[in-house]
Amino acid sequence: MSSSIRSGDANFVIENNARHVWHPMIDPKMSAENPPVIVSGSDGVHITDVNGKEYLDCTASLWNVNVGHNRPEIKNAIIDQLDKLAYYNTFGNASNPPSIALSTMLAEMLEPEGMARVIFSSGGSDAVEGALKLSRQYWKLVGKPEKTKFYSLKNAYHGVHFGGLSVSGGIPWRRAFEPVLPGCFQIDSPYLYRNDWTEDHEELGEICAAMLAREIEHQGPDTVAAFIAEPVQGAGGMIVPPANFWPRIREVCDRLDVLLIADEVVTGFGRTGTMFGSRHWGVKPDIMCLAKGINSGYVPLGATVVNQRIVKAWDKDDPMAPIMHGYTYSGHPLACAAALANLDIVIEENLPANASDVGGYFIERLNELAQYPNVGDVRGVGLMLAVEFVKDRQTKEPIPAFDPYLMAIQSACMEANVWVRIQANKMIFSPPLVFENSHVDQAVEAVKHALSTAEYV
Ligand SMILES: Cc1ncc(COP(=O)(O)O)c(C=O)c1O
Repeated sequence: MSSSIRSGDANFVIENNARHVWHPMIDPKMSAENPPVIVSGSDGVHITDVNGKEYLDCTASLWNVNVGHNRPEIKNAIIDQLDKLAYYNTFGNASNPPSIALSTMLAEMLEPEGMARVIFSSGGSDAVEGALKLSRQYWKLVGKPEKTKFYSLKNAYHGVHFGGLSVSGGIPWRRAFEPVLPGCFQIDSPYLYRNDWTEDHEELGEICAAMLAREIEHQGPDTVAAFIAEPVQGAGGMIVPPANFWPRIREVCDRLDVLLIADEVVTGFGRTGTMFGSRHWGVKPDIMCLAKGINSGYVPLGATVVNQRIVKAWDKDDPMAPIMHGYTYSGHPLACAAALANLDIVIEENLPANASDVGGYFIERLNELAQYPNVGDVRGVGLMLAVEFVKDRQTKEPIPAFDPYLMAIQSACMEANVWVRIQANKMIFSPPLVFENSHVDQAVEAVKHALSTAEYV
């Protein structure tokens, strides 16, 4: 028994996964009925399961393995760091060189946004939690302690902690854990395919930004701490805002003295075709949440970065000034060493440009899917793309999550060695940023084949 526990033997892991593991984001009964694929190997843009079957990874795991799998540069950086210092914390009177080097690199990369300080964490949910807490602390330090409320967007996903969940607008993520935090409100996101007002993207941007202003004014700007949003909404449906949305939101936040938090957990480090998603819209947030692409998932890491305006609030003696927030693994040396090597690759290989080029080709090819009756919409930017499935194109009624049709499409792609992800009624594409056009062709052909064999009933 004890030798087979670690052997990775296919039968052993499949049986014991079913016996002992609860998987995130699924009813355990469903994962018992449809056991997960157990991934045991990876290289470049490919992953391999315990039975030796290889797949093209069209999701970069969870939108995070941006530089691809099994990169020797990152593995060597982790090993080098292991030889020096595997772990030491960064609380109070301690620090370690890789976390300092990475803070410096992030400050340089985020110089155009005016970012000045970094506080590390263990992942994206943590980075969001840090942003929400620091924004409340900021207002207390500047003498406006009543500014505590948060605004965000419907369909937003900001992770799974109670703060992030409370500003997440996707109800399915929250229901089982409600009540969420008081004082968190959502406005409509600029969702061109589904909205009550207009088919004009720019007009929709104006409408949603005006809604934010109206709602903050209704609550009283003196009670609102921050607005948080993803530069491009990811898990909530790959909703790309119009070009005017973020600039207008920045204006609203400035006028009503509300902080702007960009949750760049997915969009950070190149995925949308620019190094950061907010840069895509020419906007400088006050706080940014980073994770995922920061080190392509080789070791868990998150970071919350703040601009000079926020930092200045700490420039005084105040009993409220200590930052009573942080994680045992904040600034983990292995995670930071991996990030430094990862960011070198992102810069040297100009992966944002590749995301833009290959993403442009990808969306062109995905548009060919319009010939299939249940494809309602195809959208995306860079290597963040989605196909939305509907029962009927006229009514746009969504095909329900976990519908056998969606499961059949996913299975057909997997059978064709193409790993895709279905999220509610969308097929999400978020491949490694080193993807090439030939990989796009393979993925699109597999989806076409799946759509021509599956039938919605
Ligand atoms: C925009 C956004 N924020 C936060 C998170 C949470 O990150 P993590 O799963 O690393 O906690 C995610 C995860 O997908 C995300 O997409």
